[in-house]
Amino acid sequence: MDPYTEQQLVRNRDCRNTWQRYAEHRHQVMKLLCDNVGNDCRSICIWGAGNANDLDLNRLLEVFAEVHLVDLDQEALLFAVEQQSLQETPTVVLHGGVDLLGITKFASPLPATQPNTADVDRLLKHFQVLAPPPCQPCDVVASVCLLSQLIEAIASLVGAGHPRLPELVTAVRCHHLQRLFQATRPGGRAILITEILSSDTFPTLPAIPQTSLRNALAQQINMRNFYTGLNPAILESLAEREPSIGRLCNGIAAHPPWRWDFGPRTYAVAAYEARTRSQK
Ligand SMILES: C[S@@+](CC[C@H](N)C(=O)[O-])C[C@H]1O[C@@H](n2cnc3c(N)ncnc32)[C@H](O)[C@@H]1O
Repeated sequence: MDPYTEQQLVRNRDCRNTWQRYAEHRHQVMKLLCDNVGNDCRSICIWGAGNANDLDLNRLLEVFAEVHLVDLDQEALLFAVEQQSLQETPTVVLHGGVDLLGITKFASPLPATQPNTADVDRLLKHFQVLAPPPCQPCDVVASVCLLSQLIEAIASLVGAGHPRLPELVTAVRCHHLQRLFQATRPGGRAILITEILSSDTFPTLPAIPQTSLRNALAQQINMRNFYTGLNPAILESLAEREPSIGRLCNGIAAHPPWRWDFGPRTYAVAAYEARTRSQK
């Protein structure tokens, strides 16, 4: 097994027993996925579903006729359906072993020296090609706390100090959103949920009253306290900044942020939503 997949498996095994702790985060994720769903929404696909401790799969089945779960880690998906007693439910479809960035073919072996210009160009070229969606286009497609992992993957691959890392991060972000939008049926809802910073760099985050959270986070963002590639102001304006994204959707709207008690740290989580356009 390649080192990247192995790392995800280990992380997911370490996070199995978190159902209680994720309750508030799960509530926020579920509200976003299930509120205001029209009668035309029958299928949902979740990217980065993993152990699904942030998803109430039974509730999803009340709203959607089909639930597709996609992850690199098949073992975590099997745990997810077993934990929620859905292993015999054919309308919950598992897509395990799917690498949504195609990073695993580069991740092994890790280069002994800093990647050179040709290596970086090869990666950039790879991110310009969009693999087919993991299943048929769905009415709602949501990427749940996956983009941060993909950005971390590219940073570990080339090295955090690599001079062309910003260019690669931009390419990964663009690739992810384009694929997300392409996996959503025309006129459907594409949702990006992502951690933007944590209590590691903003220690008072867990104590901020919910009513002040948005302003407190805006101050942190102004001080450039956010994960690389996950500046909320940039994420919200990607449809205008990146023509390859803009042509696939009718603008991107931000939802109010919330917190995710992860245990070792608390994350501030942001969510963005777009209606996909008919593709020409
Ligand atoms: C932070 S976890 C999401 C939390 C998860 N929904 C839960 O409640 O357990 C991110 C997930 O993304 C998956 N992942 C990471 N890189 C991936 C890739 N390249 N393709 C597909 N899934 C990936 C990991 O296996 C992990 O399950």
